[in-house]
Amino acid sequence: MDSKVERIKKWMEGKKRGPVRVELHPTDRCNLDCRFCWRKGDNEIRPEKELSKDKLIDIVDEAADMGVEEWIISGGGEPMLRKETTLQVMERIKEHGMWGQLTTNGCLLKEEDVERIVDMRWDQVQISIDGPDARTHNFIRQEDYAFRKSVKASKMISSEKKRQESSNPYLGYNTIIHNRVHDKLEEMIVLADSAGSQLVYFEPIYPGYSSKVRLELDEGEKKEMVEHVDRAERLAEELDVDTNIGEYREKYSIDKDSFGDRVIGKVQDNREGFLGAPCYQPWYLLGIKGSGLVGCCSTFEEGVYIHDRSLKEVWFSKKFQELREEMLEKDIPEYCSKCSVVVLKSNERIRKILSSGSLGLNGKLKEKIGEVF
Ligand SMILES: C[S@@+](CC[C@H](N)C(=O)[O-])C[C@H]1O[C@@H](n2cnc3c(N)ncnc32)[C@H](O)[C@@H]1O
Ligand code: SF4
Ligand code: SF4
Repeated sequence: MDSKVERIKKWMEGKKRGPVRVELHPTDRCNLDCRFCWRKGDNEIRPEKELSKDKLIDIVDEAADMGVEEWIISGGGEPMLRKETTLQVMERIKEHGMWGQLTTNGCLLKEEDVERIVDMRWDQVQISIDGPDARTHNFIRQEDYAFRKSVKASKMISSEKKRQESSNPYLGYNTIIHNRVHDKLEEMIVLADSAGSQLVYFEPIYPGYSSKVRLELDEGEKKEMVEHVDRAERLAEELDVDTNIGEYREKYSIDKDSFGDRVIGKVQDNREGFLGAPCYQPWYLLGIKGSGLVGCCSTFEEGVYIHDRSLKEVWFSKKFQELREEMLEKDIPEYCSKCSVVVLKSNERIRKILSSGSLGLNGKLKEKIGEVF
């Protein structure tokens, strides 16, 4: 968090700086077709439009030069579908001493991949598990093998860490809050504990991607979930499993309705300039989609293609500068309505530090868990 704030402060002084974090989707293709996923309908994306392995390695080298400190490798699609490219990119990131997190469905991980991931001392792996049992998870992931393979992946990582006597990678689960898991929060913590996962990170579902069945929580289900939060948190403490479940004690946190209004609502006072900016990501975060489209936040839909450009050209491009200026004018892009409560809270923390210089207790816990998406 400190680097992000430091970087933003430099921008406030008119000194342009590189991003702190890169979120890379090596591909938009996937081995699964999960019911809630936003990548539905993108199956015809052609591999030849993806950035080549050499281009990705160049991007990593350039990012290191520009002062990037952390990487999130996710999707889009499934990063392990381009396994060799993704693993080489990860190795390069670690050669530069940068911090990295991989988000994966885990189904394609083999023992030799896990051995490499532990051997390079990759920092964090988040395996997406959306239910504590095969029935719940496989319903979402639409493959009978999904639960077995994803849990197996976490067990493999956990035992390989022991074999190599390594505390890396920190291992976690990403669990999307949908209406078949909202009352199984404690079971998710038990599963994590039994499979060697150190964290269960809950994230509300982005609505509107699942056409056939309702997966979003209705009002009754939200109320039901809130009743499980305290118990799940206590259990997590007992079993020494980290979790952000405490963030969902309020019903509104689960809600993504009118999200754009809430992004703006947080700064509906008279603050101008950086202190009044609805979101700070455009000054510290660069996202790269499988198509090579690059944006200056994690949920972008507008940006610049990087195939024939350097990272520096893109980060300091006219397009990015316009997006930053619009943010300062509180003129947020359409896609902010699809953003996440995690980003909202991170912005609140940054705004608080910029105004007062202090992070507070909650912020320190958040630092430990990280922002996994
Ligand atoms: C798009 S996936 C890409 C990485 C990998 N394929 C996986 O499933 O972990 C990244 C994360 O987004 C989550 N996700 C997908 N669709 C979502 C939605 N509609 N709302 C919230 N999270 C979603 C997934 O569960 C996963 O944890
Ligand atoms: S959530 Fe991950 S595994 Fe599932 S379809 Fe989306 S990209 Fe693929
Ligand atoms: S979508 Fe909007 S609120 Fe979310 S990270 Fe991007 S700019 Fe920030």
